[in-house]
Amino acid sequence: MEFGRNAHRENPQSGGAKINCPAASKRYSFRSRLPQMNVQELIDTARTLVAGNKGLLAMDESNPTCNKRFAPLGIPQTEESRRAYRELIVTTPGLGEWISGVILYDETIRQQKKDGTSFVKAITNAGIIPGIKVDTGAKDMAGHLGEKITEGLDGLRDRLAEYSQMGARFAKWRAVIAVGDGIPSRGCIEANAQALARYAALCQEAGLVPVVEPEVLMDGEHSLDLCYEVTEEVLRTVFNQLYTQRVTLEGLILKPNMVLPGLTCPKQAAADEVADATVQCLLRAVPAAVPGIAFLSGGQSGELASARLNAMNVRFKSRLPWALAFSFARAIQQPALEIWLGEEANVLAAQQALWHRAKCNWAARRGEYNAAMEGTGATYVP
Ligand code: G3H
Repeated sequence: MEFGRNAHRENPQSGGAKINCPAASKRYSFRSRLPQMNVQELIDTARTLVAGNKGLLAMDESNPTCNKRFAPLGIPQTEESRRAYRELIVTTPGLGEWISGVILYDETIRQQKKDGTSFVKAITNAGIIPGIKVDTGAKDMAGHLGEKITEGLDGLRDRLAEYSQMGARFAKWRAVIAVGDGIPSRGCIEANAQALARYAALCQEAGLVPVVEPEVLMDGEHSLDLCYEVTEEVLRTVFNQLYTQRVTLEGLILKPNMVLPGLTCPKQAAADEVADATVQCLLRAVPAAVPGIAFLSGGQSGELASARLNAMNVRFKSRLPWALAFSFARAIQQPALEIWLGEEANVLAAQQALWHRAKCNWAARRGEYNAAMEGTGATYVP
């Protein structure tokens, strides 16, 4: 007896010669109908994004978020400032040793270096894969006080085609799940999971690897145990929806939060506790077919994010079905931004700081990060 695609082919009504099982004729395949060649490309890109102990650098802050990061440092909140800052990042010598892919924003993917070279070309020349954030932001969810739903599905097929033409090979969508009094609700988790799955299916249709980011936020007093429970529920719902929407798991990257106590929880957790809780939670909820898990940093300091990723790889790396990688924004960029301050004279020092944080996270993937890599032990040898 055959199921799925073969059974469908044998259905006389669809032109097949014979059918062995009447029930099978009514059964539709639950698998994606993407051509095999395209699926293989997606799988290859997804694997490359997590190969060589490298990770992703998220530089996809929307204009308001980028301006929010500039404001306290007195950096002008202009298009030219944002462009100059992104040029600093993409021209950091040697970045491609530690970084496999960078996530751009709609404004950034259209920008160029001062000499006229497009950022996409500069990134590709550095041996790094360009990607793009494609959601249009998390908005207040109707009827769900304190909760958000991420928007951006309208017109997404056309935007993905344009980004693909511009050179993007993967695309990110972030859903945010807040933890608090009576939240998250089932409605919020399900709506966000379905949006993530619909975006992921459209990405794969366009030949872009989806980087699926359901973020359980750190804000709040909640315990590590509650973060575990919510993260597991969210991930299980997301993977159910990915299956329902026929997303090929081998051709995506999951970008989750680490399992952490809330920022104001009186009981904070050691790196080993975070590592144990995070890996146990992921093992319960993430299918082995997924090639890589690249964590967001979510507001952790650069050092803490590296230490926690390192602890996971030290304790579990050889026993896991997926690679444990990183896709940090603040935990890689923040020290560089604080050095740059919008001044041309600070560009080299800022690039050194960026290079250093990227290298620390590469080391954390190998389980070789330690405190001696920070401070005076830091060396810049691009
Ligand atoms: O959407 C958020 C970024 O992709 C990750 O940023 O590492 O600062 O949390 P983060």
